[in-house]
Amino acid sequence: MKVLVIGQGGREHALVSKLAESKSVSQVFCAPGNAGTQIDATNVAIDVSDIPRMLAFAKEESIQLAIVGPEVPLVAGMADALREAGVAVFGPSKAAAELEGSKSFAKQMMWKANVPTAKSETFSNFEAAEGFLEEREEQPLVIKADGLAAGKGVLICDTKQEARDAIQSLMRTKEFGDAGETVIIEEKLIGQEVSILAIVSGDTIIPLETSQDHKAAYDGDLGPNTGGMGAYSPAPLVTEELMDEIIEKILVPMVNVMKTEERPFNGVLYAGLMITNQGPKVLEFNVRFGDPEAQPVLMRLKTDLAQLLLAAAEERLGSIEPLEWDERPAICVVMASEGYPGDYEKGKVIRGLNEAAKLEDTKVFHAGTTIRDDEIVTDGGRVLGVTAIGETIGQAKLKAYQAVKCIRWDGAWCRKDISDKAR
Ligand code: AMP
Ligand code: GLY
Repeated sequence: MKVLVIGQGGREHALVSKLAESKSVSQVFCAPGNAGTQIDATNVAIDVSDIPRMLAFAKEESIQLAIVGPEVPLVAGMADALREAGVAVFGPSKAAAELEGSKSFAKQMMWKANVPTAKSETFSNFEAAEGFLEEREEQPLVIKADGLAAGKGVLICDTKQEARDAIQSLMRTKEFGDAGETVIIEEKLIGQEVSILAIVSGDTIIPLETSQDHKAAYDGDLGPNTGGMGAYSPAPLVTEELMDEIIEKILVPMVNVMKTEERPFNGVLYAGLMITNQGPKVLEFNVRFGDPEAQPVLMRLKTDLAQLLLAAAEERLGSIEPLEWDERPAICVVMASEGYPGDYEKGKVIRGLNEAAKLEDTKVFHAGTTIRDDEIVTDGGRVLGVTAIGETIGQAKLKAYQAVKCIRWDGAWCRKDISDKAR
């Protein structure tokens, strides 16, 4: 079968390289892809949000399975358009993708389904938001842009002044454009974060192995929020008992409420959770594989990914065998451009990729890379996801950082403490 992966990040490279291993897959295309997906698949120069051209390509190549990686095309209705054209699609409809596209919608669904989450209020009026803040006692709050903001529209405010500045920058300065026209003000939750990803189709929910992201830019979880600076899997914090609680109190009620609302979910339901003293609470839902969580999680998956995602796309998930996993842990270290998550330059020549590729149990997933004059150069903020598997999390960490050491470009940096929380 011919498969099309839509997207251009590290997650898509991880998807592409896993799909390319499948015996049932004859060819993998990636639109638009990056320098890494060009090595493992065939890149197609179509923008992730260009629905008409994507449809034309899928028909021309008789694509049998399309996988939509990022949230932006999902929220824009890419999956619906491909499905209507008769392509099996792994990824939610526009109506279901609103769970990620609007944080206030996600909150409404959580209230309806009685799913534990932080207490919050939603505001579309600046004065009302400001008035609400003034009436509150001094306490830490989290201010979020309602819409999509590439993982950066969340501001943790420890003082009232920071909260005032946050609503000013979201609602008045419009730092995240229309995404910040509506804001959510919520209580700050304390605890450790985990990412629970589940493959969902019809009434079937198949949780994947757990993982933990590192959202803050710098070591020790300091600095601004990013799209994710590294991840590891599994997250030892999530015991079997806790997983059962997460399935029962969060995943099942969400899948049910989406069905009741006539927005049935098909794809990856990603619950970003805080494990608090009162149990797991939802920070956010995403409607796709996490990036960089997909890199270590998929590296551990032994089941044929193409068959799994096709079964989900065709609503036959209930009949597939239990997933098989490599028991060994994996970690992914993101190497980023100087300046990220703020402004950064592109086009720096990346060296040492061949040396890194020789290391055992290691795979360098490309994110913001492209090919220029036969050289691989940087093309984004998060550039590479250096991923390794090891007997213990410590060994996986050692291997990943050994590979990181092989790779260099002007301004390259990474966090040095990925996976330390697992130990
Ligand atoms: P979100 O995009 O909603 O997951 O938020 C991004 C990050 O901000 C999360 O991964 C958390 O690290 C942090 N965050 C979001 N909401 C809260 C909250 N209510 N309390 C504490 N931290 C939060
Ligand atoms: N790693 C967080 C995300 O994919 O949104």
